Amino acid sequence: MTAAINPALTQTHAGHHHDLKVRQMDFALNDIPEFWYDNDPFKTLLLSALSGGFPAGEHFFIHSIRHFQDQIKDPELRQAVRAFIGQEAHHSKEHEVLNDLMIKHGYSIDRIDRNVAFAMKWYKTYLSPARQLAHTAAVEHFTALMAEEYLFNSNELDKMDARLAPLWAWHAIEETEHKAVAFDVYKATVNNEWIRLSQMAICTVMFLGFSTYDFITLMRESGRQGDVKMWAKGINYYWGTKGIFRKMIPSYFKYYRKDFHPWQHNSQSMVDKLKAKYLGDKA
Ligand SMILES: [Fe+2]
Ligand SMILES: [Fe+2]
Repeated sequence: MTAAINPALTQTHAGHHHDLKVRQMDFALNDIPEFWYDNDPFKTLLLSALSGGFPAGEHFFIHSIRHFQDQIKDPELRQAVRAFIGQEAHHSKEHEVLNDLMIKHGYSIDRIDRNVAFAMKWYKTYLSPARQLAHTAAVEHFTALMAEEYLFNSNELDKMDARLAPLWAWHAIEETEHKAVAFDVYKATVNNEWIRLSQMAICTVMFLGFSTYDFITLMRESGRQGDVKMWAKGINYYWGTKGIFRKMIPSYFKYYRKDFHPWQHNSQSMVDKLKAKYLGDKA
C-alpha cells in the first residue's frame, strides 16, 4: 500500500499537510554482532532498550489515533492517518526481527516488550481517549527528536552494522514524515492544552525512568557493567557538554510553547539525502 501526498506541502507549517509513504521493507537480518553499533555496548544497548519498547508502543499509537479517525474531516489528514497507521505497523514488524536477534544474544528484550505492553494496557483501561492521544503526540515528539537530532546528524548511522543502518534510517525517515500526524489529529479533535502539556510532562518522567531502568538491566546482562571507562565515555557521549541528548533539551522544551507545531523544525534536505542513500527505489 502506498499513500503519497504532494511533497511540496511538507514545507508548510500550517498543519494538515504531510508527505507520507508506506514502505514495506524486508531487511535481511539473520544474525548480527552483539554490539552492532560502533562495537560499543553502551550505544548498542541504549538503542536496543528503545527497540524493545517499539512493538507494544507503536501498537498503542495506532489504537489511540484510530479512536479519533472518524472525527477527522480534512481529507488530507484522513489520508495521513491511514499512512501513519501503515508506517507504524511496519516499524513494529521489522523491529521484532532485531529484538529477536538480541534475545538470542541473551538480552531480556522480551521482558521490555511485556512491560511496555502492560503499561499500554493500563493506559487503554484508565486513561481517557484524549489523554491516550496526547501520549502518542508526546512520544512522537521524542521519536522526531531522536530521528532529526540524533540519527540524522554526526554520521551515527555509519557507525552501525551495515545490515542494521538501513533499518534505523528507514524508521527515522518515516518518523520524520509522520511527525505531525498525531499532533494534528489532537489539534483537530481534543485540542486541550492542559492535557497536551501535562501528558508530555508525565510521559517524559515515565519514558526516562523506564528507559534508564531497561538500559541498566541490559548492561548488566552484557556482563560489562563493571567497565567504568565505558560508562564514563557513554555518559559523556549522550549527556556531556556536547552530548547528543543534552543538545536536544531546547528542542524538547519547544513542545510546551502554545504555538508549537512539529513542522517548525524542517529537516527535509537531510531526509532527502538519507532516502537516496538508504531506501533506494523505495525512497
Ligand atoms: Fe515508528
Ligand atoms: Fe511514529
